Amino acid sequence: MSNQSYRDSQFLDGLSGEELFSMQIGLTYRDFLVLPGFIDFNPSEVELETRLTKKIKLKRPFVSSPMDTVTESSMAIAQALMGGIGIIHYNNTVEEQVAEVSKVKRFENGFISDPVVLGPKNTIHDLDRIKETLGFTGIPITADGTRNSKLVGIVTNRDIDFERDRSIPVEKVMTTEVITGKAGITLKEANDIIKKEKIGKLPIIDKDGKLVSLVSRSDLKKNKEFPDSSKDENKRLRCGAAVSTLPESRDRVAALYEAGADVIIIDSAQGNSIYQIEMLQFIKSNFKNLEVIGGNVVTRGQAENLISAGADGLRIGMGPGSICITQDTMAVGRAQATAVYQTAAHAAKHDVPVIADGGISNIGDIANALAIGASACMMGFMFAGTTEAPGEYFYENGIRLKKYRGMASIEAMKAGGDKRYFNEGQKVKVAQGVSGSVVDRGSILNFIPYLSLGLRLSFQDMGFRSVQDLHQGLREGKLRFERRSESAQAQGSVHSLYSYSAPSLRAE
Ligand code: IMP
Repeated sequence: MSNQSYRDSQFLDGLSGEELFSMQIGLTYRDFLVLPGFIDFNPSEVELETRLTKKIKLKRPFVSSPMDTVTESSMAIAQALMGGIGIIHYNNTVEEQVAEVSKVKRFENGFISDPVVLGPKNTIHDLDRIKETLGFTGIPITADGTRNSKLVGIVTNRDIDFERDRSIPVEKVMTTEVITGKAGITLKEANDIIKKEKIGKLPIIDKDGKLVSLVSRSDLKKNKEFPDSSKDENKRLRCGAAVSTLPESRDRVAALYEAGADVIIIDSAQGNSIYQIEMLQFIKSNFKNLEVIGGNVVTRGQAENLISAGADGLRIGMGPGSICITQDTMAVGRAQATAVYQTAAHAAKHDVPVIADGGISNIGDIANALAIGASACMMGFMFAGTTEAPGEYFYENGIRLKKYRGMASIEAMKAGGDKRYFNEGQKVKVAQGVSGSVVDRGSILNFIPYLSLGLRLSFQDMGFRSVQDLHQGLREGKLRFERRSESAQAQGSVHSLYSYSAPSLRAE
């Protein structure tokens, strides 16, 4: 033990997590502070790696919420590239949700094992549609237009750019002398061929000439740029998907599993229900390697029920969301910091990670959530204004904004979002959320590094080098906290100035 840490342990100040949260009052992230620790490392040495579920690790503790104004494929791709994960919402048809998951899973691959292919009789127009919807160019052409059939050609932009008649079959324009790789070659060997031959796509074929997979030049570039990306064992970006507790979601889960979803979140505002337990048990017994996150829960008893039913992770929060009016409308819920601490303390006994969901509107909230036991933070508000969130920007009073709505806002419920609130099919809708707008935060690709650096600095101030250390410090009572009075909170924010410009929460 260093002299400094020895002194820290001799002169314990403040409260342990257990003492802080044994108070009979619900606390939010703003109601307490972490007392500073001892600094003997650089922020760059702080390890933000964490666990989303029992089996899924992330390099960054960030998760984008399954909401229709937050997470579709662009958001999920960007989150995974930056080390977090996006959860695709289900306010859509099964086919639409599956298509979004597929876009993420196909985005960046070593070997693309399920490439989009066409047959010789497909038209250039079909290629245009693929380019438009999936963004791919360079499509392998197989004998019968399915994967696993004989490769007969490839069509790239060069073959079709100047072709005016888009109705002609691709067999008229495709390149038939295709440079290919043999099944079994390593990624490095495939890359070498791509570089040497200066080609964009390298189809990999088996000994009978059947297409096995595809290697893409643009993916090689992306591989280099995103060393922390969240990937599965096949080097595909990780992606989550949410489903409701309704029985019809069973088919949805099967389709999402087929599409390669890494984790399913059973999305329910009050997760402690027979419907959720049955859904959890159904998924765990039918899709053995699929990770499942249950929720939302806020008490130890609720957490225990879902853990016993097989949850690999828990989502915590009832009422703290920025767009949420659940606590006002239902008079049920829990202050978020108390909810996170209590459920995390219980779940830790079963080695189940918890995700703090909702109510995060600054870097300090993320740091606090992790300090009191959360392994990751799910955010809607923080990400809804980024380029990658669905929807167009618009201006109000000269400010660039994007729409952000609760899934239980009247607007979202009319579009199907009420499945989360046991409110589906009702003629009268009781809103538990609102529809609003958030300011432009730029791209996730810049915003996540900004959040990560802020978080590292916060860890440094607390004197802990990793999420794991922080959780250990919490359990051992070495991490010290203090309640903040209302005046302390006021003093902790900007005050007394005649005027000032508030820093924008985004990378500048
Ligand atoms: P935020 O990050 O504070 O904006 O909270 C996002 C979280 O609020 C989501 O991940 C959901 O758990 C929750 N949520 C989403 N829509 C609604 C709603 O309409 N009412 C209540 N909570 C919602």
